[in-house]
Parts: sequence; C-alpha cells; structure tokens
Amino acid sequence: MKAAVLENYGPADTFKIKDVADPKIGDGQILVRNKATSVNPVDTIVRSGKFRLMSGLFGEHIIGSDFCGTVVSSKSPSFKEGDEVYGFNRAIKGGAYAELVVVDAKEAAIKPHNLSFTDAASLPLVATTALQGLVKFGKLKKGQNILINGCTGGVGSAAVQIAKTYGVTVTGVCNGKYADYARSLGCDHVIDYNKEKIPTDPQYDLVFDCAGKLTISDVKDSLKKEAMFVTTKGNLDSAGGMFRTATDLIFNSHMKFVVLKPSGIDLLHLRELIESGQLKPNIHQTFPLEQISYAHRMVENESFAGKVAVEIK
Ligand SMILES: NC(=O)c1ccc[n+]([C@@H]2O[C@H](COP(=O)([O-])OP(=O)(O)OC[C@H]3O[C@@H](n4cnc5c(N)ncnc54)[C@H](OP(=O)(O)O)[C@@H]3O)[C@@H](O)[C@H]2O)c1
Repeated sequence: MKAAVLENYGPADTFKIKDVADPKIGDGQILVRNKATSVNPVDTIVRSGKFRLMSGLFGEHIIGSDFCGTVVSSKSPSFKEGDEVYGFNRAIKGGAYAELVVVDAKEAAIKPHNLSFTDAASLPLVATTALQGLVKFGKLKKGQNILINGCTGGVGSAAVQIAKTYGVTVTGVCNGKYADYARSLGCDHVIDYNKEKIPTDPQYDLVFDCAGKLTISDVKDSLKKEAMFVTTKGNLDSAGGMFRTATDLIFNSHMKFVVLKPSGIDLLHLRELIESGQLKPNIHQTFPLEQISYAHRMVENESFAGKVAVEIK
C-alpha cells in the first residue's frame, strides 16, 4: 500500500511517500481503504518525535489520526466489507496517512451519508474532543452562558456548533479576521483576542479553552461560583503559565483537562448532528497525500479557520 512514512522523527519535510506492506487486522478490528485524513496539531507533535517514548523509538512509522473510507476486511460483527466508515485512531497509534488503516471496530462508525469522504475525515478527532470537552468534562447544561476560546479552530468550530444544540449562549474568542465565520457557526458574541480581553465579571457557567492558551486562574474572575473550566492543553506558553496550569489542575476541582478517548458511540452522536445539518465541516485547504509535508507546515505555521484535509487516491 501507499503511505506517508517517517523513517525518522523530524520536521514537516521528513515524510517519504513509499510502498509498504499491507497491515493485518486482529480480532475486533477492521481494515479500512482510507480515502482521506486530516492534519491535527497533535499529529505534528507526534511527527516531531516529542512523544517517541509512546509512539515508538525504532523503525518506520506511519502516523495520522483521522480516517474515512471503505471497510475491505472485518474481524468484527459490527462492520462488513463495503461499509463506509469514519473515525480516528489515537495519535500515538496513528496509521491514517496510508491507503489502508487498521481500526478497532468499537472506535469507528458508519460515515455521515451527507458528507464526502474528505469532509467526513476532517471532523472525527476535533468534534469528539469538542463533544467530550463540553459534555463529559464540562457538564454542559441547557440554558448556560459559556465561553469558547479559539472558537474558529478545528476543536473550537465544532464546539460552538455542538454547544448551540444544547440551547446555550456562546461567546467565542478568535482572531478578529474570522469574526463573521464565528457568528456563522452560532456564536452570540465574539471577542477578538488581538484587541479585547475576556470580560472579568463572573458571568460564565463554563469556559472551554480550545486554543490551549489558558488555565483556570487566568479566567477566575469571569467564572460563576460553580462554573467549570475545561482545557485541551493548558497555558503552556511560559514557565509561569505551566506552573499555574499544574497547580490549578492539582488543587482546583473545577478545572478539567480533556483526555480524549476514541468512541464509536460518540461518532454515532456526531453523525446525527452532521446528518441533521447541526454540525458542518469547514476545510481551509485540501492536499493530496503526496503533499503531506505542505499540509503539516500549514498547520504548524499559518493562521486559518477550520481544518487542513488530505486526500488519499
Ligand atoms: N487534550 C486533547 O485530547 C486534545 C485533543 C484535540 C486537540 N488538542 C489540542 O487543542 C488545541 C487546539 O486544537 P485544534 O485542532 O482546534 O487546533 P487549531 O485548529 O490550530 O485551533 C487553535 C485555534 O486557537 C486560536 N488561537 C491562537 N491564539 C489564540 C489566543 N491567544 N486566544 C484565542 N484563540 C487563539 C487559533 O487562531 P489563529 O490561528 O487564527 O490565531 C486557532 O483558531 C491544540 O493545542 C491541540 O493540540 C488537545
């Protein structure tokens, strides 16, 4: 099969497009002819080698999380040959930057019928993060007033759309040039992070930081008494931010870190939202697998709204 292979960890141009042996499946797994994937920030971190203790020290690696394609063989009663499926592998397991990807059947779902393979491959990891961040960790409830930081990124744009299905009021924080897009997602109020601060009266029931810029003590004056603060990363941009993030996580039970788990059940829920038009993908640019290095460079270096997708033909 054709794959984007890392012979070593390194910068974005480390990928080599090669023919490698087809992978084999075990019990409870499916083999998917993968038609599309996307680039998530975590995939760029795995590529750099920062997680090498978990993603593997030696040999060739095929990374990549999101997948969408057709089942070509199955050792699970849940799927049969020909089923069109979508989902994501944990980033440290990877395998999605390839024509064939091995997937645990309980971590896949039938693809939304109203999306192309490429559109459907742009959502699984970010939309599952958004769903689990808001509902499992943030305990989102109808009627709340919430703030989503980084609301036009991959996780943030899914989070705004999912949050609106719960009948909440959403303030989105983003780069001002994407304010119209943030409103089109459903944000009731928009804050430009280049010009404005998050309001410091205690008005929010939940702050979901999808940008990975904050810790709970950065927004303590904006939170109601019992409010939750959920982050995908924490404030890791400075030594002080890292120290506050660590102490907040240990000592403040109102702060939660999203520990993302692939889940076929969550993908089914997301499929319902997608098929009813309540959750829409937004692809900024699509690259062929042969240009995966450009796709990684764009995610690492550029400001854009939505996702970078990759087609595997
Ligand atoms: N814990 C987990 O399991 C988990 C799961 C998924 C993702 N993550 C992490 O969550 C983060 C977001 O992921 P993603 O896929 O959504 O990335 P993304 O698409 O790059 O989105 C990040 C967004 O944050 C915005 N941003 C940058 N600086 C900001 C600031 N100071 N204030 C507010 N917004 C700001 C960016 O806007 P501009 O580019 O326009 O400035 C961009 O829209 C990444 O760090 C990722 O690694 C963690």
